[in-house]
Formats: sequence, structure tokens, C-alpha cells
Amino acid sequence: MSSLPQILRDQLAATPAGRLPFAQVMELALYHPEHGYYGAGPRKLGRQGDFFTSVSVGPLFGKLLAMRALQEWQALGEPEDFTIIEQGAHDGQLAEDVLSALEGRKLRYLIVEPNPRYREAQAKRLGDRVQWVESLAALQTGPKHGFFLCNELPDAFPVHLVRWCGERWRELYLEEDGPEAFRLVTGDFSCAELAVEAKHLPRDLEPGHTLEINLAMLAWIRDLAHAAFRGAIFIADYGLDAEEFYADSRAEGTLRRYKQHRMDGNVLEDLGECDLTTHINFTRLIEEAERHGLKKMEYDLQGRVLGRMAMPWLKSLEGQSLDAATMRQFQSLTHPAFMGRSFRCLMLKKAAP
Ligand SMILES: C[S@@+](CC[C@H](N)C(=O)[O-])C[C@H]1O[C@@H](n2cnc3c(N)ncnc32)[C@H](O)[C@@H]1O
Repeated sequence: MSSLPQILRDQLAATPAGRLPFAQVMELALYHPEHGYYGAGPRKLGRQGDFFTSVSVGPLFGKLLAMRALQEWQALGEPEDFTIIEQGAHDGQLAEDVLSALEGRKLRYLIVEPNPRYREAQAKRLGDRVQWVESLAALQTGPKHGFFLCNELPDAFPVHLVRWCGERWRELYLEEDGPEAFRLVTGDFSCAELAVEAKHLPRDLEPGHTLEINLAMLAWIRDLAHAAFRGAIFIADYGLDAEEFYADSRAEGTLRRYKQHRMDGNVLEDLGECDLTTHINFTRLIEEAERHGLKKMEYDLQGRVLGRMAMPWLKSLEGQSLDAATMRQFQSLTHPAFMGRSFRCLMLKKAAP
């Protein structure tokens, strides 16, 4: 079976110009069913994996989200069809944490999962406590009430790369650089939507400034806006506001690769064996969400959002002390030096479409 670099070489050879938009490369590197980093099944996250997520820190993240989902259910008048919907559920750990925290309350849990191998791994862990759909399109017919949640999902979507060339923005394509390596070269935009997005980018940057455009994220939030449920949408990810995203200090963009807890910008090396990821442009995400009828309820550093979410629970513990493991998790999730500052949380309100 061919490795991912060989698959890329074959695809490059099959295109007339011998080059591919970076978004297609990232799609293959992450989601090729055999050789993509996320293709073959859920990899270990946390200490034994390549990176930590708020989920891999421990069950507290799920517990806080369970309490928030419960509040949403109550605010909607406790409807019977209320469903917690998760996308990017990986090995089902967050679903398990949320369901355990709900302690037998009969709330439905639905996972949006396109990859059959992931569904298999999730079913092994969760049994019949959850149901699945393959894509957001299935949510256009129901449920009617819901709480959608995802952690580190849009940072894993394939992105286009664009570079400011002094007079105009151009797209970056992958091509071969000899028999062993690849390089990025500039070209015209590969699709009209990218050209439209690029029109809104700043033009007072130094030539060579490179950044990512996450068209998949924009399509995703539009799909969510058109889903049938009313309720709330919770998105946690690392990301930036537009002015941080376009800052001179980020002239190389935010695309990074992760392997065994080491992070660097050599994104064309070891394709398929490293996680590739970018920061979310939250300003652009919120703008698109609001254009499609979603309402921003809360957007802040993860430390502050989870701190506020935890308040009623911490108050209810008055007089009792937190066990050491829970205390450590709370610190990791909320302290600015750990995940409290680099991660941000966005809560959107969703009326019926
Ligand atoms: C960085 S991991 C985060 C995993 C988990 N949510 C966590 O926080 O530990 C990104 C996950 O998103 C999944 N993913 C990417 N695109 C997806 C899509 N369109 N639908 C569902 N899952 C997707 C990947 O398979 C991967 O499991």
C-alpha cells in the first residue's frame, strides 16, 4: 500500500499543472482513510498521544458541559426530544464524561460522525447510550431542541493558504521539490469563494505575510445555523480575534504540526504522521454565524467561560474541599498558563431556522 507522500506524488502527477491547493493536501494528510493522521481510527490523545485536549485532561470538562446542557434543557421548558449533539467526538471520551455527569437523566446524545471506524470505537465505549448521524445535513429534520458541543473541531478542518505578494493576495499550492520533498508555490485562487474571502483581508501587510482561510469552517457554521434544533451551540478551540490573526508577529500564519507533544511549522514533513492544525479566526466565525441567524451569547477565554460555568457547582460544594485530581483538572482547564488563555469558548444561541 502506498504511503501518503506517494499518494500525493501520484495526485500531483495527475493534475495538469502538477500542483494541488494546500487545502487538498491537508484533507489527504488528515483524512485519507488509510494514511491520513485521523483516517484509520481515533489515535490516543493526552500524555500517550501527540497533544493534550481539554477532554484528555480528565472528566471535569465534560461535567461542566453537562451542567450547562442541563440549564439549556431547563430554559427550553424541559422538552422531551432535547438532544445533546457532539461533533468531533473522537473516541467518545467527552460523550462518556457528559453522560456520566448527567447520572441517568434521560437526555438523548447524538454524535455527528462521518468515519465508520470512529463510530465503531465510540460504540465500543458508549454502547446504546448514544445515536449517530453521518453529517450535519441529517440535523435539518430534527431534533427540534438541542445543545450542540464540540471541542477542537474546526482547528482540524483543511484550510487554504494565502500569501500577500505586495499588490495582491495569492493562493499557495503544493508541488514536488525533487524526488524526496515538496514545496509551496503561489498561484491564482483555486475557487471563487476563496477570492471573495481574500477581498476582505487587510492589504497593509509586509509582502510574504501568509495566513489560512478556513472555508470549511464557514460552510460548517452555515450548516449548523440551518439545522432544525433550537437551543445553543458551544464551540471550544484555540483561536484568535481578527486583529491578532493579522498581526505582524503572525506573518507566517498559524498552521502547525504536532507530534509527540512537539510543535513546529515544518508542515510538509512526515505528512500523514503528524497532526496539522490552525488557530480559528473567531471574529470571522462569529460574523458568519450572525449572518446566518445565530446569536452570540458569550465569547471569552476558556478560563473565564469555564470559571463562570463552574460557579454554581463550586458554590454547591461550600464547606467541602475538591479532591486533588479535580483541582488539578480545573487548574489545567482554566489557568492562563495552561489552557485558560490560548483556548476560547463561544456560545451561540440558536432559534428554530
Ligand atoms: C483535535 S481532535 C479533537 C478530539 C476531541 N474532540 C477532543 O477534544 O479530545 C479533532 C477531531 O475532529 C474530528 N473531525 C474532523 N472533521 C470532522 C467532521 N467533519 N465531523 C466529525 N468529526 C470530525 C477528527 O476525526 C478528530 O477526532
